[in-house]
Amino acid sequence: METPAATADAPEGLDAALDACDGIEGPLLPILHRVQAAYGHIPDAAVPAIAARLNLGRAEVHGVISFYHDFRTTPPGRHVMKLCRSEACQALGADALAAHAEARLGVAMGETRGDGAVTLEPVYCLGLCACGPAAMVDGQPVGRSMPPGSTR
Ligand code: FES
Repeated sequence: METPAATADAPEGLDAALDACDGIEGPLLPILHRVQAAYGHIPDAAVPAIAARLNLGRAEVHGVISFYHDFRTTPPGRHVMKLCRSEACQALGADALAAHAEARLGVAMGETRGDGAVTLEPVYCLGLCACGPAAMVDGQPVGRSMPPGSTR
């Protein structure tokens, strides 16, 4: 079958992510999560293919990607540190922690360091409010008196 023009530049393997969500109700978010899991971000070149598959406008797909903080449009650093910026953590020193992380890591909040080593991102409540200020480092929750790798 010939590839439609809207999907000719789609990243390799994208069809598998799209096929995996065939037939499910409300497939856009599951597709975006699958694409981000596969590529680390949602490549611009994937948007036309996603839109075409779901019979949506590209702007609609872009709108959903930009609405949710968790979706990335650029590749993340090799390590990703998410710092909670919500009220409970702010009351427990999250602002000072964020300033310290920015200075120590040499990267501004919401950015990836130039050498690609680390991405520092804000997040809005990790469900660890009692252990605030809370963070997530490479997918592992970290809180005050809660070492990385802890499961509580
Ligand atoms: S407010 Fe920070 S983890 Fe809930």
